[in-house]
Amino acid sequence: MKKLNVGIIGAGFMSKAHSMAYAAMPMFFWPAPAIPVRAILADVNEKTAAEAAARFGYERSTGDWRTIIADPSIDIVDIATPNDSHAEIAIAAAQAGKHILCEKPIARTTEEALRMLEAVRKAGVTNMLAFNYRKTPAIAYAKKLIQEGEIGQVRNFRATYLQDWSADPNAPLSWRFQKNVAGSGALGDIGTHVIDIARYLVSDIAEVSSLVKTYIGERPVQSSGLDALGTVKIGGAVEKGIVDVDDEITTLLKFDNGAIGSLEATRNAWGRNNFITLEIHGETGSIYFNYERRDELQVCFSNDPADRKGFRTIYTGPAHPNGAALWPIPALGIGYSETKIIECYDFFDAVVNNKRCEPDFEDGYRISQICDAIITSAATSQWANTRS
Ligand SMILES: NC(=O)c1ccc[n+]([C@@H]2O[C@H](COP(=O)([O-])OP(=O)(O)OC[C@H]3O[C@@H](n4cnc5c(N)ncnc54)[C@H](O)[C@@H]3O)[C@@H](O)[C@H]2O)c1
Repeated sequence: MKKLNVGIIGAGFMSKAHSMAYAAMPMFFWPAPAIPVRAILADVNEKTAAEAAARFGYERSTGDWRTIIADPSIDIVDIATPNDSHAEIAIAAAQAGKHILCEKPIARTTEEALRMLEAVRKAGVTNMLAFNYRKTPAIAYAKKLIQEGEIGQVRNFRATYLQDWSADPNAPLSWRFQKNVAGSGALGDIGTHVIDIARYLVSDIAEVSSLVKTYIGERPVQSSGLDALGTVKIGGAVEKGIVDVDDEITTLLKFDNGAIGSLEATRNAWGRNNFITLEIHGETGSIYFNYERRDELQVCFSNDPADRKGFRTIYTGPAHPNGAALWPIPALGIGYSETKIIECYDFFDAVVNNKRCEPDFEDGYRISQICDAIITSAATSQWANTRS
């Protein structure tokens, strides 16, 4: 069976998630399009890279990502670093003819995103952005129901993505609060996931009317180490630095296909850890999804008998998208890891069969334009067009 060599850059949260998916993908999807070989891991810190390589199962490690780009044996470059390095690495990887799996958001700015898109187009390499939540079988099944007309024309889409790890002012000033590294705050970090799902389930977004808020203007400086997503607090008389990104966004949406909707993203909602909800109303039915119960999809149809009208629960399993590859019966528990395994399968399938992989850099570029429109709308108190 064909093997493809992966060079991964970064040794943190996403490096772990992707590495697990490379190991697990052929265990679930068989025959696999190709076997991922965990060849080399890079991190800015050489010692961190060596430790992570041993832990995540890579043959070699390096303290310089350029070693991966220069290595002709590497087929795939996996970018699992903070957002400030996505453009430089992706453009170099495309120029070297490598296929690219890049973490979201695509980059810090739309200008960077456009350069990345142009580079992969010019090189003709397969590219994917890691918006993995859309790979959840229940969300992919919602897409199937909508495509098959089960709820008729979509009229309204509502989404939330709520977390609370930054609600404490003592959660340190990691890279996720710095515009020069992250590009934006909750908007790029988690808002982009639900913007991706909105585009996937309904249609592209034409206009937005938005509010953007930063509640905690400064935080204790984190001098080194991985971002612990607020689980490590720094209290007392310590140096503080400025937060120059958003904590929260809320926006109204006008879709290209005439639907309307709303979307919220915050990292400051006490009690909400990873609370993604979707509610879609169509002419003839509704769909509801809550990531805290991610095996399930709630559906309701207008032609249900009057005495049985109301939401009912479908437990996703082998009968649903990618479900047959996962576990033999419904409701065993599909988690975050499974979304990364499906993502890995889709990417390898696209690389081997030379087809478009979704979501890709083109989607990432459009999502970046939508994020810009959200910021513009909030700043001007006007509706903003996502294409201007
Ligand atoms: N898809 C998702 O659900 C999801 C979840 C979390 C993070 N992310 C995204 O994944 C990316 C990484 O986030 P994370 O949570 O893994 O961050 P992290 O802070 O846990 O890890 C980042 C790693 O990259 C390394 N690094 C930084 N700059 C580097 C460079 N120039 N060269 C080599 N290594 C470098 C750091 O030393 C660290 O090991 C970000 O773009 C983030 O938005 C996606």
